[in-house]
Amino acid sequence: MHLGFFFLLPLLSIPNIYALPSDDCILLGPMFPAEFDITTTDAFRNAAESFPRAINSLFSNGTLNETGVTFAIDVFSTATNNTIYSYYHSGSALDSYLSTGDLNDNTMFRIGSVTKLFTVYAIIVHSGWQIMEKGVVEILPELKGNKGSDPLDRIVWEDITVGALAAQLGGNGGPPFLDVMRDLKKPVAPAFATTLYSDSGFQVLGQVLQRVTNLTFNEAIQKVLSKPLGLNSTSSFKPKDGETFNGLVLPGDEVTGYQDWGLDSQISAASGGLYSTTRDLRMIGLAISNSQLLDPRVTRAWMKPRGHTGSLISSVGAPWEINRLALTISASSSRTRISDLYTKLGGQQKYATIFALSPDHKIGYSIMVAGDTAAGIDRFTLRNSVTEVFVQAAEHAAWEHAEKAFTGTFVDPETEGTNLTLTVDTDRPGLGLKEWFEEGVDIRANVSGSPALDADAQSFRLYPMGLVSEGPSSLLESYGSESSERKRMAWRARFQPKKLVAHSAVEGGQGLFDNSRCEQWASVDFLDLYSNGIGTDEFVLGLVDGRLETVEYRSTGMVLKRLE
Ligand SMILES: *[C@@H]1O[C@H](CO)[C@@H](O)[C@H](O)[C@H]1NC(C)=O
Ligand SMILES: *[C@@H]1O[C@H](CO)[C@@H](O)[C@H](O)[C@H]1NC(C)=O
Ligand SMILES: *[C@@H]1O[C@H](CO)[C@@H](O)[C@H](O)[C@H]1NC(C)=O
Ligand SMILES: *[C@@H]1O[C@H](CO)[C@@H](O)[C@H](O)[C@H]1NC(C)=O
Ligand SMILES: *[C@@H]1O[C@H](CO)[C@@H](O)[C@H](O)[C@H]1NC(C)=O
Ligand SMILES: *[C@@H]1O[C@H](CO)[C@@H](O)[C@H](O)[C@H]1NC(C)=O
Ligand SMILES: *[C@@H]1O[C@H](CO)[C@@H](O)[C@H](O)[C@H]1NC(C)=O
Repeated sequence: MHLGFFFLLPLLSIPNIYALPSDDCILLGPMFPAEFDITTTDAFRNAAESFPRAINSLFSNGTLNETGVTFAIDVFSTATNNTIYSYYHSGSALDSYLSTGDLNDNTMFRIGSVTKLFTVYAIIVHSGWQIMEKGVVEILPELKGNKGSDPLDRIVWEDITVGALAAQLGGNGGPPFLDVMRDLKKPVAPAFATTLYSDSGFQVLGQVLQRVTNLTFNEAIQKVLSKPLGLNSTSSFKPKDGETFNGLVLPGDEVTGYQDWGLDSQISAASGGLYSTTRDLRMIGLAISNSQLLDPRVTRAWMKPRGHTGSLISSVGAPWEINRLALTISASSSRTRISDLYTKLGGQQKYATIFALSPDHKIGYSIMVAGDTAAGIDRFTLRNSVTEVFVQAAEHAAWEHAEKAFTGTFVDPETEGTNLTLTVDTDRPGLGLKEWFEEGVDIRANVSGSPALDADAQSFRLYPMGLVSEGPSSLLESYGSESSERKRMAWRARFQPKKLVAHSAVEGGQGLFDNSRCEQWASVDFLDLYSNGIGTDEFVLGLVDGRLETVEYRSTGMVLKRLE
């Protein structure tokens, strides 16, 4: 039993108390490399085993209506390109709406506003990232020339870029069309003032896609995304008799309103009109994550927030709905770190879809739901379950994997007293630099200059930076076999007092700021006088078939090898 247990007990009796953030102030991004098969970990196996129980308890306590809801869930790994977990449930009351009687990876659902992700993806793939900065009127000149002069009445289309619409920053508000948009539609806010969800903005983006491709919306989606990615069931039209499809869930074919079942309005198609399957959504997720159609640089730029909301836990991208999750660091920790989940939600009353990517963990998921309360409580309940179980498990899986693959003692076989020890620690993110000696000198004690630090009162951590060299390396040549995979990865070391008390009030401390507590991002890569451009905090980890074999400290050229 560790001390944290005593510390937390009194807090747990307070309703809605959040887990405490880690004492280590960390960089945003993965704490460990995620390029491995997470299905081999205990964390994942436990998650897969517990998920059906979680769903059953939601059925048995009435949170989900077992007979009244149908859903398909697909969790996939963008490291192995496979489904890692799937779950299907068809409510008996909806049997007649399941066109082939079989619910599977290829069953079509309507995806509502998840369509917006396809629209933006297709625009960027077709026209390049630079189109985001382009004024909408440059592409759709018919939006120019609203003669109104009253700021309350006039949308200034000249101020609105493609990127503004994509990130819900157009300020143009609600639904309708182009002539209405130019003259009649009143603005809600100036462009770039605040995030305001806008279906009409996406109808305009649909026109942008049509104009730049000279194709209809559906043709553009087929040409730009479906064909290159092998999507076979994504369309803005309900399959017609005689067309090949694997089944469709349409709970109620009556047209009861805007974008309801069976209504294939091509005008609003770019905002919410697509049908798709868990298979096609997985293909999209793998393509985005692996930068199949975009330069990796563009993918990284695209998967960033472009605006915030009134909530500390949600931000907005183009058109990502970014959820800032506080994930516990390891399976037995109650300390958390922030990891951003990139999602898009869609739905209208009786149908709903959620698409999510977790770049830190190289996993993603889709949830497709049909039933009376699909777009209400059902989708949020399922989002919570899938994320709590699988995204949280992925964080623990990376820790567990790092414990096996990265920890150990590394020595310079030629120099007595030169060695270093890497650990993983229950409540701390990244790798721990537990010991570090060079020719008998404790470098950790020296690292911040004089007077020497009490190294054991400091937390020394290493974080991966995403720079990987897969070229030939003489250092790694002697390891593994001819077919072994060898890579060298850049990590950066950070150190700070083990217990940093300054948390802001919102993180359970005091005040509006965390003062110097969380400035790690501002102090990476300080150079020493003789460093030749090398940061004094840079380590290069050499991996052979996924296992850490060598540690280089680039500033001094120190090279250490795993002590067997
Ligand atoms: C139903 O069960 C779930 C899962 O155990 C739980 O999170 C939820 O609070 C329960 N709801 C009710 C109404 O009991
Ligand atoms: C559950 O769904 C069924 C089928 O649609 C419906 O008849 C029933 O009233 C629903 N139960 C509740 C508690 O809403
Ligand atoms: C996954 O797919 C991407 C893109 O096609 C490919 O580059 C990568 O090598 C694949 N990964 C595996 C493990 O097959
Ligand atoms: C393609 O361009 C032609 C000529 O400008 C135009 O008449 C047609 O409407 C365009 N098609 C689409 C789908 O935008
Ligand atoms: C789409 O491709 C998958 C995988 O090959 C296949 O199982 C499915 O039947 C295809 N769907 C259609 C409509 O052809
Ligand atoms: C590492 O170096 C220190 C300082 O010289 C020494 O005390 C320790 O035994 C060494 N550890 C190993 C595993 O060589
Ligand atoms: C470490 O500190 C000692 C004592 O101040 C000093 O002699 C030595 O040069 C320092 N070594 C390094 C590598 O900074």
